[in-house]
Amino acid sequence: MTIDAVSPRRISHPVFARCYTLLSAVTEAAGASAHRDELLAGLRGEVIEVGPGNGRNFAHYPPEVTGVLAVEPEPYLRRMAARAASEAQIPVRVVEGDADRLPAADQRFDAGVASLVLCSVPHPERSLSELFRVVRPGGQLRFYEHVRAEDGRHARLQDWVDHLWPRVAGGCHTGRDTVAAIEAAGFVVERERRFFFQPSVLAKPVAPHVIGIARRP
Ligand SMILES: C[S@@+](CC[C@H](N)C(=O)[O-])C[C@H]1O[C@@H](n2cnc3c(N)ncnc32)[C@H](O)[C@@H]1O
Repeated sequence: MTIDAVSPRRISHPVFARCYTLLSAVTEAAGASAHRDELLAGLRGEVIEVGPGNGRNFAHYPPEVTGVLAVEPEPYLRRMAARAASEAQIPVRVVEGDADRLPAADQRFDAGVASLVLCSVPHPERSLSELFRVVRPGGQLRFYEHVRAEDGRHARLQDWVDHLWPRVAGGCHTGRDTVAAIEAAGFVVERERRFFFQPSVLAKPVAPHVIGIARRP
């Protein structure tokens, strides 16, 4: 798999990265592991995953996936992802990079994967436009994200906590309308399942989730 040279913006969240790695063991057992199976079921071919974190998706890719380019800007998480990649059943290449400027050629991939990441990128519309660029026509975007609550009171809670939350959670915003952003980027959402997932009481602002499939026309 060839990679185009792009110098990435420096993103470093050393405390969040370590906390996320520890907490992810709990959230996987509470249900995230099953969500990742649902997210990735049926994928095949060449895949680009943005912001893989510590690589929790890698063990869930089906064997029909021939390669994954995993673009992670945060140094500690990138090291953890490289470790997970070395244990994956399919070839995974972890590289430094930024979802806003993906190090890949146009229409290079059969699918893009965004899981729990469009909440954290600084410019979701840019990241989605980059995913649209690198996925081939007819290819898919698989997404698993916490999203803006449909209930007004819950959405107001999200707006309120968002004054502080991004500062302690690696830039994560609780109340983004990510499905609308996916559609605005030009993808056509073919399937979405909305549900609540709240592994701890503190996770209420990020409880509304969606798993879905969108297609690049
Ligand atoms: C909450 S973690 C999710 C990690 C992983 N995707 C998962 O499903 O567990 C958010 C991830 O987004 C990454 N991220 C933040 N800004 C990014 C950017 N501009 N480009 C790519 N990834 C980014 C973080 O480094 C981190 O790995």
